[in-house]
Amino acid sequence: MLLGKGLLGIEDLERSEIELILETAQRMTEIGTRDVKKVPTLRGRTLINLFFEPSTRTQTSFEIAGKRLAADVVNFSASSSSLSKKESILDTAKTLDAMDPDCVVIRHKVAGVPKRIADVLNAPVINAGDGAHEHPTQALLDMLTVFQQKDRLDGLTVAIIGDIAHSRVARSNIYGFSKMGAEVRVAGPPTMLPPAIEVLGVKAYTSLREVLDGADVVMALRIQNERLEGACFPSVREYAATFGIDRAKLRYAKDDAIVMHPGPVNRGVELSHDLADHRPSVILDQVRNGVALRMALLYLVVGRPQTLRAQE
Ligand code: NCD
Repeated sequence: MLLGKGLLGIEDLERSEIELILETAQRMTEIGTRDVKKVPTLRGRTLINLFFEPSTRTQTSFEIAGKRLAADVVNFSASSSSLSKKESILDTAKTLDAMDPDCVVIRHKVAGVPKRIADVLNAPVINAGDGAHEHPTQALLDMLTVFQQKDRLDGLTVAIIGDIAHSRVARSNIYGFSKMGAEVRVAGPPTMLPPAIEVLGVKAYTSLREVLDGADVVMALRIQNERLEGACFPSVREYAATFGIDRAKLRYAKDDAIVMHPGPVNRGVELSHDLADHRPSVILDQVRNGVALRMALLYLVVGRPQTLRAQE
């Protein structure tokens, strides 16, 4: 299904495809626990990481994922490339494609750039985050993390809190968890809730108490300062008081609710220091799962044996 196609967004995936990726990722987690964390699955394959926007978790985990599968991984740095000589993004991408990579992973601050590049490349493209549009691998690793904690996704209540309007993580998770049968709710200051968010099948709240009532999963989002055109809330202190999650506010959710955040966390704003570091937050599980999830995706997109490829 995914072979040779890449992944631009969760919106394009069927539930069965999400299940396949999560099952494959669950099997990949074991490789990260070995002394020798490497299997030969992608030996001889080349992966290019093309990041036009800063990244810690996503870029590093794609690199580690490729290396654990024995691929050759090239990290393209936009600042030291011919982009600084005004070569266009499309020309840059086509140049790299002529070196016959087996997969190109792209992050860009403008929504739609990975799709635009995918349209002209031979290599399959994986979207590592485009503007405020989608961040599909983040949603997949989030679903994997929740599944490990709750043994299901179907029937869960997932509350996503914060800067919904500017968050690609929110959008991909709304698609993903909804496709998997969870109830997704969102909450934030009215200026951070996109108009007509309900068309995505979610219910919007402006009260933290209401959105958390009965929630199994509490997902806080980073305030996307780089995407805000003006002030969306009166002050950081007021945001933290109204929508920041701490242990007292977490009591509105179910007793066994887990707390998530895609990182990087603005400590003391979206999450209290205590919750950023301790259970029930699963933030480092999310990071760890990011490697296994990206291994699974690379395997499904480029790595199956030629014989299988020929049959499909
Ligand atoms: C997210 C991103 O870049 O979209 N980070 C990540 O990939 N883990 C979230 C964010 O920057 O807020």
